[in-house]
Amino acid sequence: MIRAVTLPLLAALLFRETGAYNQRRYIDNSSGTPEVIIPGASSYNGLNLVPQMGWNNWNAFQCDVDESLLLDTAQKMIDFGLRDLGYNHIVLDDCWSIDRNESGYLVSDPIKFPSGMKAIADRLHQLGFRFGMYSSAGIFTCARYPGSLGHEQKDADLWASWGVDYLKYDNCFNQGQSGTPKLSFDRYKVMSDALNSTGHPMVYSMCNWGNDDPYDWAYTIANSGRMSGDIYDSFNRPDARCPCTEAIGCSWPGFHCSVMNILNKMAPIAPRTMSGYFNDMDMLEVGNGGQSDSEYVVHFSMWAIHSSPMLIGTNVGTLSPANLAIYSNPAILAINQDPSAGGASRKWRYFVDPDETGEGEISLWTRGLKNGDRIVALLNAANSTMMMNASMNEIFFDQRTAGAYREPEELRQTWDIYDLWANRMSEEEAASIINGNATTRGNHTTRFNATATSYAEGIANNDTALFGVHVGSIAPSGTFSAEIARHSVGVYRLRARPTPTSRKRDEL
Ligand code: GAL
Repeated sequence: MIRAVTLPLLAALLFRETGAYNQRRYIDNSSGTPEVIIPGASSYNGLNLVPQMGWNNWNAFQCDVDESLLLDTAQKMIDFGLRDLGYNHIVLDDCWSIDRNESGYLVSDPIKFPSGMKAIADRLHQLGFRFGMYSSAGIFTCARYPGSLGHEQKDADLWASWGVDYLKYDNCFNQGQSGTPKLSFDRYKVMSDALNSTGHPMVYSMCNWGNDDPYDWAYTIANSGRMSGDIYDSFNRPDARCPCTEAIGCSWPGFHCSVMNILNKMAPIAPRTMSGYFNDMDMLEVGNGGQSDSEYVVHFSMWAIHSSPMLIGTNVGTLSPANLAIYSNPAILAINQDPSAGGASRKWRYFVDPDETGEGEISLWTRGLKNGDRIVALLNAANSTMMMNASMNEIFFDQRTAGAYREPEELRQTWDIYDLWANRMSEEEAASIINGNATTRGNHTTRFNATATSYAEGIANNDTALFGVHVGSIAPSGTFSAEIARHSVGVYRLRARPTPTSRKRDEL
């Protein structure tokens, strides 16, 4: 009887219908890696409800690409357990085409890719990967290959016919069609619509470097959007070619942006990252040689905490044991893949103790997760070891100031603290994986198979690989302290202990 259906129930039914429609439309098992489904969550095309993970050639190889690089990398990622940690996209960046043919379709370089793109896509799908390609919303790509502006539908149709699963879409040579959000939105929307009209699911990864504030408008047309000029392999060195220190109002994003530069640009726009549209902090530099081990740990951890896409940007074939151990920390990746799909908030930042670059600071970042756990990151980007503190009032500042009609429950609880780097895979174990003689496969504190069990399920099952090591607790009104070395971060998961006051009245 229709009158029995209340308005909220009707709304819920409609919402579920819409969500189900999106999901049905885009569930595609051709690559062997079905979409993550989060009840109630959606995106403009139903894809990418948690951040994309994978590998992209640009940071390490630039234009030096060919099909064996893609396929050899895919095989290594399987051998090293990286695919099964969730790194399941192989993304080919710039420099893959030679021209357009007489009918206006792009032609791939037959010397670099003799088997053709369809065969490469098929092979990657057989190996359990999705295949990503690249173009620019301009007349050329950034390396001056043919761009897609004015050819959007033909290009989208061609990629769909090859079985491409993902498009990275750059911003070079855009004919001046930028400078206002509306100009950029309209230009990027043409490709968004073209991809959708193919009927073939393709994740749409915008790369317009944060120009015209995409975090303010792109979630209705894309699955991720770069929020800064290009990263370079430096922890904190300022560079004149990356002139902005803030994302908002940055009219010239540039390139050669350091890890700390990009990280701090995230602070105000972190709330504008969401399921289905992620602020993309750019591809990971871990392994490229420009930073120390602990600096790479900062880079990897802070990208993960912010729900940035996690695209390995190094030569997987020459990965060192230490760098494999960083890329392989499932306790950190579980934050990145958490269904809450949010960013972290910077609770405080102090400029102290600069190093030779003139930069020095410490900061506290926190993030809430779907199951109520909290992430606390104590970041020491100063030039010496620091004893760092996070008080309950700082960690739960937002709950305290939310205009609550009662004292926030979080402040009345005791929280267990888990150090998420304490179980980092040893160099010995990582070396045995690289050398193909690992005997400890399935070590349940260092290994996780996200192909078999999603991170969300792993968390629900209390999988020990996702929780690091229990290092203490923090009581109501308490403060957590840890000694953090120079250019390092402590990353902790806080879990509330059940308290008598949180039990239901009739249980007392
Ligand atoms: C840049 C982009 C890089 C890379 C490069 C290729 O604009 O930000 O990630 O794709 O173009 O030329």
